[in-house]
Amino acid sequence: MHLPNYKEAKKREKMPYQTVDYQLNSSLKNKYQGKTYFLKTYGCQMNEHDSENIKAMLLELGFLEVESYEVADLILLNTCSIRENAHNKAFGMLGRVKHLKETRPNLIVGMCGCMAQEEGVVDEIRKKYQWLNFVFGTHNLYDFPNILDKAVEEKKQTIEVYSCDLDIVENTPVVRDRTYKAYVNIIYGCNKFCTYCIVPYTRGSERSRKREDVLKEIKDLMDSGYQEVTLLGQNVNAYGKDLYEDYGLGELLGDIAKMKVPRIRFVTSHPWDFTDRMIEVIGKYPNIMPSIHLPVQSGANCILKKMGRRYTKESYLELFDKLKKVRPGIAISTDIIVGFPGESEEDFKDTLDLVKYCKYDNAFTFIYSPRENTPAAKFLDNVSLTVKEERLYQLNEVVNQYFLENNKKLVGKYEKVLVEGRSPKKKDMYFGYTESNKLVNFTGDHISVGTIVEVKITDAKTWSLDGEFYG
Ligand code: 5AD
Ligand code: SF4
Repeated sequence: MHLPNYKEAKKREKMPYQTVDYQLNSSLKNKYQGKTYFLKTYGCQMNEHDSENIKAMLLELGFLEVESYEVADLILLNTCSIRENAHNKAFGMLGRVKHLKETRPNLIVGMCGCMAQEEGVVDEIRKKYQWLNFVFGTHNLYDFPNILDKAVEEKKQTIEVYSCDLDIVENTPVVRDRTYKAYVNIIYGCNKFCTYCIVPYTRGSERSRKREDVLKEIKDLMDSGYQEVTLLGQNVNAYGKDLYEDYGLGELLGDIAKMKVPRIRFVTSHPWDFTDRMIEVIGKYPNIMPSIHLPVQSGANCILKKMGRRYTKESYLELFDKLKKVRPGIAISTDIIVGFPGESEEDFKDTLDLVKYCKYDNAFTFIYSPRENTPAAKFLDNVSLTVKEERLYQLNEVVNQYFLENNKKLVGKYEKVLVEGRSPKKKDMYFGYTESNKLVNFTGDHISVGTIVEVKITDAKTWSLDGEFYG
């Protein structure tokens, strides 16, 4: 048994790591043939992509996916720690699963992902959820088949969570959710330590994949007909710093663009180490999509300082303006936290002023949620929940108004859309995303999923556009 440990997770010793290849223990191949699984994924794209790896490993073991957890032989929760409500959702699900387990003792239940990296969560599981069969963390995802099998064979709770970085494992199998757009990890972990954020503890230190491994994965995706790749990392801007002297995200983006991948995206970029080289490359290659996620978190310098964000409102706006200039029409989205400890009315007004300047195309807005073991959790929080809720409401009113305003500018224009399928709400329409990452529902006949088509935009809503197929 390996348990998560907060002290270990805080250490940032330079641990040499290797790149090794994934290998399934051959005795496990199809061992669970005839069994079914239900996998529930919470959180960010990194977790979604981890689930694509988990699904492939389950397939190797012989499991088949089912839509309902009530009939599955294995239930696995891939969890998120970012805010308290992500925690509550996972524990709520565990509550429902407990009832099933009472009537079906052979049901196998497991937890993985970011919550598994939390010492407090695992303590609680060991005390109150002894019926949970296994837990593994973000660093040993590739070992999932062995952990599951050990829990089943030994019939006792198996917890294998490491709080230090392990090797980078290449060639982990993957069953991608889509056949036309794909996630590609380029860097794991985060060294930024924003004071509110749990990620540096749950995902470890920054470790880049070798560029040849990234480029090979993308080449294989292109050979299979993929139209879009999204490069993933908690902070993609740090790509390469741990491996190379002079090869970073700018160079990697340039190399991928030259491979003629039709659509390239990347998330998430910290405004602090967004280099001029990256900006230049974004300006140069039309296949790097004009849509950048640039989390600002707050518009008040004193709050940014307390958050440990390493930039000021002024330097953020300078970067924002450079991006708008280098790529006319670029859509910029953001994340904003309201009610950070000590946020005054004046500070909140600074955030509103910044939002009014930036007129974001999309924004994810949150009330600050204290995370155990992070520095900000110890800050004096003198902002009441009512005030935080009012600020969130007020902020949402302002951001929504700009989403609509920006969308209206596209009415009458022709946009390139990557077709994803029939619209879930309007079955007679298709849906897809523009280059600037806006959702479009559009009319048309016999359109192939995964193709890039031209759509005339006919109407704008706050969260989406309407259009008609043009060609
Ligand atoms: N409370 C609220 N929001 C948070 N985020 C990260 N940590 C917290 C927290 N403790 C938000 C940030 C980040 C996004 C992924 O989640 O805005 O950019
Ligand atoms: Fe949630 Fe962050 Fe973990 Fe993603 S990396 S699942 S956002 S805690």
